[in-house]
Amino acid sequence: MFVKMEGTKNLVTAALPYANGQMHIGHVLEHIQADIFARFLKLLGKDVLYICGSDMHGTPVEINAKKAGKEPREFALKFWKEQKKDFSDYLAEYDNYYHTDTPENKELAELFYSRLKEKNLIYTKKIKIIYCESCARSLPDRFVKGTCPHCTTLGQYGDVCESCGVVLKGVDLINPKCSLCGKSPVQRESEHYFFKLSKFAGKLEKWINSEEADLQPEVKNWLKGWLEQGLDDWCISRDAPYFGFEIPGAEEETGEKKYFYVWLDAPIGYLSSTKNYCDKVAKGKCEWEDYWYKGKVHHFIGKDISYFHFLFWPAILMAVGIPIPTLTVHGFVTVNGKKMSKSRGTFFTAKDFLKEYSAESLRYYYASKLGKKLVDIDIDFEDFKASVNNVLVGNLGNFIYRTLSFIDKNYNGEVKDVVEEKKLEKEVLELIEEVKEGYNSLEYKDAINKIMRIADLGNSYFQKAEPWKNKEGSVGKVAWCANLVRVLGILIKPVLPEFSASVEKQLGVKELGFSDLSFGFTGKLGKVKILVDKIEKVPQSMVFPLDMKVGLVKEVKDHPGADSLYLLKVDFGDDERQVVAGLKKYLTVGELQRRKAVFVINMKPAKLRGEKSEAMILVGDDGERVELLNVEKSVVGDEVKFEGFTNNKKQITFDDFKKIKMLVNEGKVVYESKELKTSTEDVLVKGLKDGSRIS
Ligand code: MSP
Ligand code: ZN
Repeated sequence: MFVKMEGTKNLVTAALPYANGQMHIGHVLEHIQADIFARFLKLLGKDVLYICGSDMHGTPVEINAKKAGKEPREFALKFWKEQKKDFSDYLAEYDNYYHTDTPENKELAELFYSRLKEKNLIYTKKIKIIYCESCARSLPDRFVKGTCPHCTTLGQYGDVCESCGVVLKGVDLINPKCSLCGKSPVQRESEHYFFKLSKFAGKLEKWINSEEADLQPEVKNWLKGWLEQGLDDWCISRDAPYFGFEIPGAEEETGEKKYFYVWLDAPIGYLSSTKNYCDKVAKGKCEWEDYWYKGKVHHFIGKDISYFHFLFWPAILMAVGIPIPTLTVHGFVTVNGKKMSKSRGTFFTAKDFLKEYSAESLRYYYASKLGKKLVDIDIDFEDFKASVNNVLVGNLGNFIYRTLSFIDKNYNGEVKDVVEEKKLEKEVLELIEEVKEGYNSLEYKDAINKIMRIADLGNSYFQKAEPWKNKEGSVGKVAWCANLVRVLGILIKPVLPEFSASVEKQLGVKELGFSDLSFGFTGKLGKVKILVDKIEKVPQSMVFPLDMKVGLVKEVKDHPGADSLYLLKVDFGDDERQVVAGLKKYLTVGELQRRKAVFVINMKPAKLRGEKSEAMILVGDDGERVELLNVEKSVVGDEVKFEGFTNNKKQITFDDFKKIKMLVNEGKVVYESKELKTSTEDVLVKGLKDGSRIS
């Protein structure tokens, strides 16, 4: 249905993900954040398009295609389809999810390029590029890896430093290596196209300080820093082989084919996806220019791609005369406080997460944490469970269900004779305004809080009314609660569209919008049922059978009853224990005195030749030599763990202990290929060959 609407046209976008792999729950954040905003505007009755697509070109796609033994185009098209499905499974309701390897994008990229050329903003220059002789090819961007020259982080690609966010050139990297063969590449000369970004420094500066840019303070600071460092002109071409659009005329001008750098045509993908929507999907019922020249465009992006969106993209738009969109930057998703990691079991693809939890549980959780402030968003699974179970289910879901099921059971599903609650209604109407303001200013967490305040209000009203004591006389009061249900169903709709659709069905009404936010509703309910389920289980991390701590040997004595044994007094920070150790043959008193070592502290206490032993010291042993595990830099009492494991705190026996296979590998201690660590260092054992046992 394409209803022509009055007023400003709005366009909402999420960044175009590289079509080079599976989406994970971190990617999903942005599409949910943008979707909530687009849905909110639509519910206000505005003309809104929600547009995205996959970014098909450049080395991120080429490299992964190579690994998979596929042609880049075929490889990228497969992920485009998967991404489209993944986002719609999270209820991101795109008007168009297109991609960048399309005729529309080629046409617009060429059009942009010719405009820049006409304005004398493009020139060519011979530059040093990186060439791998053994692969016989130039190495653009992600085909080289090396050390970031700005922050010295190792293993960065030649496009952007993951650690400090600075935009790089392959030749900037310290100690570069070909990411295909690992060999050191050489430098060569090649003629390339440049966009005169430096000419825009003044205009960009003016823009970032302007009111209409309305930048998040964190972003503004980065931009100021980048502008202070000075802007270099931007190289927008790449040598063959490259998966992208050929630059028209390049062969004549430089003697070689050249391609547009992916970051030139990627953002143009926002426009070409809009164009494809208007021309093909909506069959000419709209025009992309109306959105981009006269409307309001709102980009949602992650912090890592700020440089491209706040410097390159606005400069290009200024050059071709298109207004600069509003930009909102979000932080990164972490799980249990850390970067998502496969080895810690905290990496979830978008698909895998849905095997355990519902899309709306994640939409709810993200919304309850999202604000305009640029911070990382942590999924703490215990908190996720508590938030869904106690607030979404326990407060909102509970109020709706108790109200509707009461009407269903006692009043034959009829909502009638609604009482008037002037004071409460006024309070609710005020909260409704605050919810709207929350959505509008992208402070979704405020919107959620206010919605829950309304649900709270409903729960206490119902509780106080005690309709079960006087069913007949409570018809109007419970009907008032049903009105509040209706209000809540509408307010939560941008975040939980399916939940809301279910509320509408149960209320027996058709699709509601923000113009229906009022009291005075009567009618007959549909079938009443529970709206959301509680979360039962959260991912458990792996459990290692031993509990280990750093202990300091305070005293070493000979065991009074055995020649081969020492008696150690060991300090664990919060307690002190006696330990019997059979180390006399291998280590001198001096080698143990005042040393830190790793101790097992959940062994069943034993008496060894009449002396109690309340912990066990761990050592590496290759049959001849015995070495302590080195933890000198760690704090006494610190927990010692294998990465990704939590230590079991229950007591275990010596027989259980003997079954555990911890080994020395390259000077480290490993268990099931995970390394042993304290909170400050890797635990090392010196001078023992690989495969030596830890016992
Ligand atoms: N293709 C470019 C964007 C071009 S837009 C014209 C790109 N793609 S990406 O796949 O690497 O990233 C897509 C988006 O996902 C970016 O906004 C990025 O910040 C976001 N995220 C990637 N990992 C993320 C998290 N762990 N958490 C939140 N967002 C993350 O960059
Ligand atoms: Zn860096």
